[in-house]
Amino acid sequence: MKYYITTPIYYVNAKPHIGHAYTTIAADVLARFYREKIGKENVFFLTGTDEHGLNIQKKAGDAKKFPQTFVDEISQEFKNYWEKLDIKYDNFIRTTDEKHKAAVQKALQALYGKGAIYKGEYEGCYCVACEQFKNEKDLVEGRCPDHDTVVETIKEESYLLRMSGDVQKNLIEKIKKNEFKIAPEKYKKEVLSFLESQELHDVSISRKNVSWGVTLPFDPEHTTYVWADAFLNYLTGLGWEGDSNKLPFQWPADVQLIGKDILRVHATIWPIMLMHLGIPLPKMLYVHGHILSRGRKMSKTLGNAISIDEMLEKFGVDGTRYLLMSAGTFGEDVDMTMERMVEKYNADLANGLGNLVSRIIKLSAGLDIEIMKSEYDPIQWNKGFFEGLRLDVAINRIWYHFIGKNNKYIEDNKPWELAKINEDKFKEVMQKLISDLYLISDLLVPFMPDTSEKIKKALEEKRAEILFPRIR
Ligand code: MSP
Repeated sequence: MKYYITTPIYYVNAKPHIGHAYTTIAADVLARFYREKIGKENVFFLTGTDEHGLNIQKKAGDAKKFPQTFVDEISQEFKNYWEKLDIKYDNFIRTTDEKHKAAVQKALQALYGKGAIYKGEYEGCYCVACEQFKNEKDLVEGRCPDHDTVVETIKEESYLLRMSGDVQKNLIEKIKKNEFKIAPEKYKKEVLSFLESQELHDVSISRKNVSWGVTLPFDPEHTTYVWADAFLNYLTGLGWEGDSNKLPFQWPADVQLIGKDILRVHATIWPIMLMHLGIPLPKMLYVHGHILSRGRKMSKTLGNAISIDEMLEKFGVDGTRYLLMSAGTFGEDVDMTMERMVEKYNADLANGLGNLVSRIIKLSAGLDIEIMKSEYDPIQWNKGFFEGLRLDVAINRIWYHFIGKNNKYIEDNKPWELAKINEDKFKEVMQKLISDLYLISDLLVPFMPDTSEKIKKALEEKRAEILFPRIR
């Protein structure tokens, strides 16, 4: 068995915010769980940065920097934040890597050779922030609904990727049969109803006047801009060199995590490129909702983003990971405010987990008992929820079944009193508490790796630091 998981690659127009951290932490949680389950040599977790296109070219110009200098700096920021958030990826792909570009050119040449890409003209409304042509009917008063920006009308020579006919029919079949699974179910329905209601338009994959991109090998006047270049990261990130007959063993991806804003392109252009190339499709696209702030998608463009630094400073690394993963149903939008996060931190971490650990460690001072292993296997206990990507359930049920209940068990049994009047009963109560705390530390490995280690260490040394200081 192997497990290959990817995140989208992030645009390097600004440093990451908690929306980006959300996807990346989720992927890290899954990768960590599977490393425990099937061994770390069988797991591959890929993330990276998407560095080409008009938007980034413009942003670099605004900052009075060469595009390469600009993307080097911001890509490094992403790496720094992922390190701060304890994210352990197996590779970080950058679309400006020479090897990536060479592989993209090879793949595009193959598509051109097969007639899947042809020269034509494209006319449409372009949203620079999306780096996408938009359908007229998706616009709101001439503006992009996601970015609130005015779209540009562009008419120019372009290379196009064939999207309709057999390839569209086959795609619909594969989605229906879950060969190319789109989850949660509502997103699958959304994609199918879109695909079944119209013939797909061929999509533009090149621009003539965007220098910051990968040059088309068959027409050096054109560069391919973000999407065609970006999708292939999922293969080049494994070391793929652009040859459809030589695929890395990790392919196909087991799970590709994406935000709902990029579902349509991932469910159309990406699989269709692969089908033209004769490469198997990823097994699953898992779509999550957005982190909202004041009711709208948190984004740099809208200026409503909560910074990762602010969260790290207040809640620490594991506190931040906890708050993001437990915030709401994975798959649905989640509205986050600082006030609510502080409240949840105090309730679940300072009072909940932190308090449980410090009480158990204090009560076990001087106690000499043999610890019995819990009857639950930590991998089995949450396995189904990881497989189904119910990450919020997987984490919340640790709190429900073991943290909340054990805090209550302590209050009901008052071990500090038992210690004075009934030693056997005291030991029995402590046995359960300690073995449950070991189990909790195992269950926390994917979500809060550092806390998990600290709990184990506290149990061994019978000494605990304050894990989550209360915020006032
Ligand atoms: N570069 C493209 C993706 C190419 S993948 C081949 C892109 N980049 S992005 O930086 O704009 O967004 C990438 C992903 O970041 C989104 O799909 C989503 O997964 C995540 N998020 C960005 N803002 C987000 C929120 N406010 N909330 C949750 N996730 C968000 O699109």
